[in-house]
Amino acid sequence: MPSTSTQPTPILTGQRALVTGANSGIGKAVAQALAAAGAAVAINYVASEKDARQVVEEIQANGGTAMALNADVSMEEQVREMFASMISAWGSIDILVNNAGLQRDAAFQEMTLDQWNKVLSVNLTGQFLCAREAAREFIRRGVVPELSAAAGKIICMSSVHQAIPWARHANYAASKGGVMMLMQTMAQELAQYHIRANSIAPGAIKTPINQSAWQTPEAERELLKLIPYNRVGETTDIARAAVWLASDQSDYMTGATLFIDGGMMLYPGFRTGG
Ligand code: BGC
Repeated sequence: MPSTSTQPTPILTGQRALVTGANSGIGKAVAQALAAAGAAVAINYVASEKDARQVVEEIQANGGTAMALNADVSMEEQVREMFASMISAWGSIDILVNNAGLQRDAAFQEMTLDQWNKVLSVNLTGQFLCAREAAREFIRRGVVPELSAAAGKIICMSSVHQAIPWARHANYAASKGGVMMLMQTMAQELAQYHIRANSIAPGAIKTPINQSAWQTPEAERELLKLIPYNRVGETTDIARAAVWLASDQSDYMTGATLFIDGGMMLYPGFRTGG
């Protein structure tokens, strides 16, 4: 019987996405939103297999397609193997969301080399390694017009701290500043292959990474001083933008950063004059 459904075809139908660090926080919400938009989604995780499997099950329960893939994004071999598994299971990749990231905060004079290296290797080297594998496959395969006007889309999860210096977080701010240049250079260099690269720069979003900043009413009050729009962000605020950036709705956009931060970038200290 022909379908009588009046539902429009979801915007990412037939596309295959990989979201790194998709077992929690922003990555999880992005994975769920991409799946709801019709993409098959690979849920990358490094340690929490149980959480990753739960995300997979939730997506499947909603009628979507997902699988969990283990890899430490800072390890070249593991990244290679993750891409090989995804491509052998689903044929190719159309969307990479470079999301995995962490913080190891310390006062500058006390920051250890381990803290520095850990943050740079996951937040920056991890994005490089995953984007390089994705680009290789996008270039090999080229544009498939039935799927998308682009040969592939890379979305980098950056932060307002690609622009706002952050005391006690020199490693994190440096990693996100690096992500900005990595993304822009990829966008410039890969446009000739019809590959788009863009970033999302979230402000304060309620996730485990910054729980201490919004958990108690006092902490939240302090945090809201930095957010003109006067609410802490939700992961869905970011996920909606990721779907749009992954889709042909944003086809003419490359090399851009979408700040989604309730106005955190607007020098909130100047709200009452200067
Ligand atoms: C950090 C959060 C922080 C937010 C705003 C994010 O990139 O991971 O811990 O709350 O920036 O400062």
